[in-house]
Amino acid sequence: MSPLQAALPREMYVDREAWLRERDRVLYGEWFCVGRTRDLGLVDGGRLAVVDVAGESVLVTRDGDGALHAAYNVCRHRGSQLVPTPPGAPPSCTAAGALRCPYHSWTYSLAGELLRAPHTDLEEDIDPADFSLHPVGVAEWAGFVLVHLTPASAAPVADVLARAAANLANYAMGDLVTGRTLTYEVAANYKVVAENYNECYHCGPVHPELTRLVPAFGSGGSGLAWEDGIPHREGAWTFTTTGTTTRAPLPGLSEAERTRHKGELVHPNLMLSCSADHVAAFVLLPQDVDRTRIDCHLLFAADAVADPAFDPSDAADLWDLVNKQDWAICESVQRGMSSRAYTHGWFAPMEDDSADIRRWLLPRLAAPDRDDG
Ligand code: FES
Ligand SMILES: [Fe+2]
Repeated sequence: MSPLQAALPREMYVDREAWLRERDRVLYGEWFCVGRTRDLGLVDGGRLAVVDVAGESVLVTRDGDGALHAAYNVCRHRGSQLVPTPPGAPPSCTAAGALRCPYHSWTYSLAGELLRAPHTDLEEDIDPADFSLHPVGVAEWAGFVLVHLTPASAAPVADVLARAAANLANYAMGDLVTGRTLTYEVAANYKVVAENYNECYHCGPVHPELTRLVPAFGSGGSGLAWEDGIPHREGAWTFTTTGTTTRAPLPGLSEAERTRHKGELVHPNLMLSCSADHVAAFVLLPQDVDRTRIDCHLLFAADAVADPAFDPSDAADLWDLVNKQDWAICESVQRGMSSRAYTHGWFAPMEDDSADIRRWLLPRLAAPDRDDG
């Protein structure tokens, strides 16, 4: 039997019809991370954020009682966006007491209930309950906001996050704050990025600096025990240009976690890389079949960021170097996949982990049409 396994077919990376189908069934049918609660301005009540989920504009609100809500950015009257927003726009946030449509001023509560429809007798003419905004599922985990565009069929979010929550519990990510965000526009399908993240076969050829910091990566990543963490070279303990930093390790880490690196991939779009003093959280924001925006949030202890001398450059410089190496090779993969000569790739044995994406994606694509409820 061949030690190689067929990767996903070419069309799933380059074909627009296949993309639209996958977007509908998978990106609109699974929990999808849209960013950090704090960065979206959603910590306090009376707040509104507008986020993009692969071309669907979504309103996320925090009401006066502190509850989060989410809804499609579509007025129930004649369909105007409540907050006019071009597709793919970066997130925006603002204070809000209610949601008033700019077209004819139908007004909704932050929970999405219709409050006012001018020049109609709301009580007499229509039942407001029939005209609530189209709901979107919303959840918070570890300081991240996740939304679900087909909430009637959403799996419990805790199930989706169980593995990452257990393996990364000690990092207490909900307490961490963003010290810097690196944003990239990458000309590659989001699955190319996720598959690249999920194997270290490429680390030796693509990341010489990182491999000097973490020699185990140079062996191609085979046999790496990610649950236990990956050790650095002697004398190094974190992902910075020097392998050390003046910041303290995060409180609550185990002895191993204070010197090792851990990571998790939460399909479809959250990649977490955990060092002793910071976490790099990558949020993949697919824009099209061959374009992905990537927000790399570098998260630190709140007291470290509050220190007037805080400077995340030692971590940010290494991540920016490694990220650009990754995105350049992902764009090369995307271009190669676009060739008429390409049919599908192969996973070598040490890419076993990256087979996950097939196991995760294919059953979801094959599922019968959903009832949007
Ligand atoms: S479309 Fe929103 S009030 Fe008319
Ligand atoms: Fe890489």
